[in-house]
Amino acid sequence: MRYIRFFIVLFLSSSSLVISQNINDFGLNSENAERMQWWSEARFGMFIHWGLYALPARHEWVMSNEQISKKDYEKYVEYFEPDLYNPKEWAALAKNAGMKYVVFTAKHHDGFSMYDTKHSDYKVTNAPIGRDLLKELIDAFRAEDIRIGLYYSLIDWHHPDFLVNEHIHPERNNQTEIAKDKNRNHKKFQKFLKNQLTELMTNYGKIDVLFADFSYPHKKNGKGKAYWNSEDLYSQIRKLQPNIILNDRLDLEEEGGWDYKSPEQFMPQNWVTYKGEKVPWETCQTFSGSWGYHRDQYSWKSHRQTIVMLIETVSKGGNLLLNVGPTARGVIQSEAVERLEATHQWMKYNSRSIYGCTAAPAEFETPDNCLLTYNPKTNRLYVHVLEWPFKTLYLPGLAGKVKYAQILNDASELKLNTKKGAWLDDIKEGDNGLKITIPVRAPSIEVPVIEIFLK
Ligand code: GLC
Repeated sequence: MRYIRFFIVLFLSSSSLVISQNINDFGLNSENAERMQWWSEARFGMFIHWGLYALPARHEWVMSNEQISKKDYEKYVEYFEPDLYNPKEWAALAKNAGMKYVVFTAKHHDGFSMYDTKHSDYKVTNAPIGRDLLKELIDAFRAEDIRIGLYYSLIDWHHPDFLVNEHIHPERNNQTEIAKDKNRNHKKFQKFLKNQLTELMTNYGKIDVLFADFSYPHKKNGKGKAYWNSEDLYSQIRKLQPNIILNDRLDLEEEGGWDYKSPEQFMPQNWVTYKGEKVPWETCQTFSGSWGYHRDQYSWKSHRQTIVMLIETVSKGGNLLLNVGPTARGVIQSEAVERLEATHQWMKYNSRSIYGCTAAPAEFETPDNCLLTYNPKTNRLYVHVLEWPFKTLYLPGLAGKVKYAQILNDASELKLNTKKGAWLDDIKEGDNGLKITIPVRAPSIEVPVIEIFLK
């Protein structure tokens, strides 16, 4: 009898030791888990929306929003001369903020290629700047050890073979253009997509991420896999870049032609699922609403909101892709720079609670006003304290499970206290919470983190 009890105790205590060794231990098959490893550990990337739309400076959808014709929009090519473009500065900014990968708009919906494509004249090398800006960006970010991702728009409002008669096309109300739809060559457009993606997957070395954008098959005259010929594109992309990580906008959900879900400007309630299973996910977010440079937009998120957004994303097992929209001179706005600088100040001391971290195992209940992350390799739990409580932090369910605790930004010890205090009658008998004594004055950092070494 005594032995049986001994084994039960041994089993119970060992099961609470290391919950999971790998960040991707939630149902990914081993091949996918391996491919996704760096991405899941990185957790934080920079999105860059840059193109002709920086000139009108009122949203990257300006062409559609204002129903500007191809011909009228083309005038911007003449004026695109970002003389202050210095991608080394951008790369340094991303690096400093703690971002591990970049996703850059090789081509957006307006159809203008930011690289030297052989398949269109509508490209940056034909603008006054006359250089392959994508190549320069890739070189600069690689030099900082930042992984390379490309955003590629499937939608192309400039291509003569792209059907106009649908709800978002800029020329959707232009009857002459609509009448031409019957003569547009669908095959030619599909070939164009494949050619451009082939160039991008071939001419710039290893591409780590592809963010294809986007499908809307359920809309009237909407476009999806049949229109893009997604299956063919998918096999071509995989063939040329076998380890590339692909978003979910090629409309190949059922076919499994995607690696992660990409909720946009949205904070999911919980870990994102597909058919009831947890899947890798990344939320892309802007600082102020528009992706491209928007001169007159003032809805900037605060420094703190940005940092909390990063923590909250990781606390739900996701990645954050945070966007900047440089001006047509080639400059990242000071508002964005300030926020990235604040992120830098926070990450400098706390990145351990982000990199390699994920949602805390379900058995750890989230304390009041906190967000939890967990590193499965080191078996450490991170408590992000959004509202610093007075003297005691109560951690439900953690009694007996903690070896050591410290404030992360200065590695100062915090005393563990499992005894019931005179005024702790509110904690019920049998409750296995742990109390940690914390200083009255909150650490002077935007969001303080407590690092917990689990047994
Ligand atoms: C959307 C928008 C686009 C933006 C993208 C970012 O699909 O059309 O402007 O680039 O999302 O996720």
